[in-house]
Amino acid sequence: MATSQPGIYALGTTAHTHLEFDLRSGVEPVELVTVLAGLDDQRSTINGCNLVVGVRPRMWQQIAPDACPAGAGDFATIEGPDGVVFPATQHDAWVWIASGARDVNFDAARAVVAALADIAELADDVDGFGYHDSRDLSGFVDGTGNPTLDRAAAVAAVAPGGPGAGASIALVQRWIHDLDSLHALPVAEQEKVFGRTKADDVEFDEADMPVDAHIARVEIDGADGTELEIFRRSIPIGDVRGHGLQFVAFARDHAIPQAMLERMAGITDGVKDRLTDFTTAVTGSYYVVPSVEALRRSGRRPDHAV
Ligand code: HEM
Repeated sequence: MATSQPGIYALGTTAHTHLEFDLRSGVEPVELVTVLAGLDDQRSTINGCNLVVGVRPRMWQQIAPDACPAGAGDFATIEGPDGVVFPATQHDAWVWIASGARDVNFDAARAVVAALADIAELADDVDGFGYHDSRDLSGFVDGTGNPTLDRAAAVAAVAPGGPGAGASIALVQRWIHDLDSLHALPVAEQEKVFGRTKADDVEFDEADMPVDAHIARVEIDGADGTELEIFRRSIPIGDVRGHGLQFVAFARDHAIPQAMLERMAGITDGVKDRLTDFTTAVTGSYYVVPSVEALRRSGRRPDHAV
């Protein structure tokens, strides 16, 4: 039995908090996993608070090699030929809190930081908010191309039977937008940046799709001819002085989001994603999001045995 962490699929939450941690020196990685596994009590069905935890791939590989998806790896800086850079800021653990209200997240985030205080240092935190019913701050709907919930687990988690069954690879990347530059373009030109219409969210026909449109960069066919998919749970972040997107995507295979990033950067075929003219990646990490059972099994406390 390998259950994918259920918070991955809890759609409809408008308050998100992302916490990233670094292990304190002298602390064993297994201690970190033990505390992460014990954070279950921060989930509350009353307030609808969902918690998803991830561990640095290289660390999880050492702790639980049998429960690690094949090919999992830390984020390494990606540099394209035209100067597009997606920097690596890899940390050791990631906790994602999602609920319907900021106050719920605030309490849960404080409790998580307190629970980890002796083990790991808070290295990065950001709060996100729902924007006009699933739109990115650019004004374009974000998430339409996601698999529906009946297929989401097959896209987001390793299939039963393989190494790391029920685990996901999470890509967590913060982007800062230049909305003034994007919005200075006529709407028809903004639409060419994404490859979709702005108001009603319709994908361009193949004949009209610019080769450097975001959609054209991230729609990739796998070896068997079917489209490679990820399950995105991104959220707008920031205030009037600085804002963008906390990009979060779950995949069953590290190679899938990595291929998308490499096409966006122009590494694959020399064509960079035009979206990168209007937004800049400032953080980048991969995490293994273990199955519920593997997470509990890998901690040290006897009550986590499954
Ligand atoms: C600031 C960064 C980004 C913004 C604002 C953004 C925005 C969007 C928007 C508006 C869409 C169209 C609606 C939809 O299908 O959801 C989309 C689609 C998509 N994006 Fe992004 N995105 C960003 C980064 C990324 C990254 C880093 C990846 C991959 C690593 C990615 C992968 C995808 C995929 C797979 C789709 C669906 C394509 C399809 O129609 O099948 N995006 N994105």
